[in-house]
Amino acid sequence: MKQQLTIALSKGRILKETLPLLAAADIVPAEDIFSSRKLIFDTNHEHIKFVVIRATDVPTYVEYGGADMGIAGKDVLLEHGAKGLYEPLDLKIARCRLMVAGMKGAPAVEGRMKVASKFVNITRDYFAKQGVQVDIIKLYGAMELAPIMGLADRIVDIVDTGNTLRANGLEPMESIDDDISSRLVVGQASMKMKHKQIQPILDKLAAAIDARE
Ligand code: ADP
Ligand code: PRP
Ligand code: MG
Repeated sequence: MKQQLTIALSKGRILKETLPLLAAADIVPAEDIFSSRKLIFDTNHEHIKFVVIRATDVPTYVEYGGADMGIAGKDVLLEHGAKGLYEPLDLKIARCRLMVAGMKGAPAVEGRMKVASKFVNITRDYFAKQGVQVDIIKLYGAMELAPIMGLADRIVDIVDTGNTLRANGLEPMESIDDDISSRLVVGQASMKMKHKQIQPILDKLAAAIDARE
């Protein structure tokens, strides 16, 4: 009998792009994820299940073995630390950048800079490496609003088209990481114990990603 395998999927904007890749690897949910309130989904394989959770919870589930593998943005993995996780595949979806931004034309900050972000660890590490002292203000979304309302001098956030920055009178200032995309992660214990089950999935996914390019 095949060992059970659980794959953690990020709900939100990457789920729609994730499902066709999994389908190309012949893994398809047994019912429509988008119209269901379920958190666990059967697939066309008796031994494979999906759990659909918040993007930021994916590395946590995989790290503690609550899921064997998962799909999450590199930003989320960097913020989490992703200790104890293998990252064997770049799915090359949801590509974007992690940037420092501020009000258009804003002068250099004198004294201690206030930076608003949901990426508090990334923000702390980035400015520490620059030797810049910052106060970090943790937000959960709509970071672009913080400088407008005088809450912060700068933000650290995802930038794709730049439309959100522009629409709110902000501009990108420094790039922290130009190579953000969604990655497949596998727990270390799962990779050891379930390698026979996992490797063929990795191979099929890799072929599906290559076929797209
Ligand atoms: P959240 O609700 O935590 O913001 P999302 O579903 O919006 O999660 O985003 C999931 C992942 O998609 C992010 O971790 C990031 O890697 C990527 N992403 C976020 N915003 C964008 C964007 N505007 N364009 C492309 N990729 C993005
Ligand atoms: C993301 C990100 C930026 C925006 C960037 O927000 O936090 O606000 O997209 O994309 P752009 O450069 O193409 O405008 P999202 O839509 O995911 O909102 P939320 O995470 O705050 O819910
Ligand atoms: Mg988002």
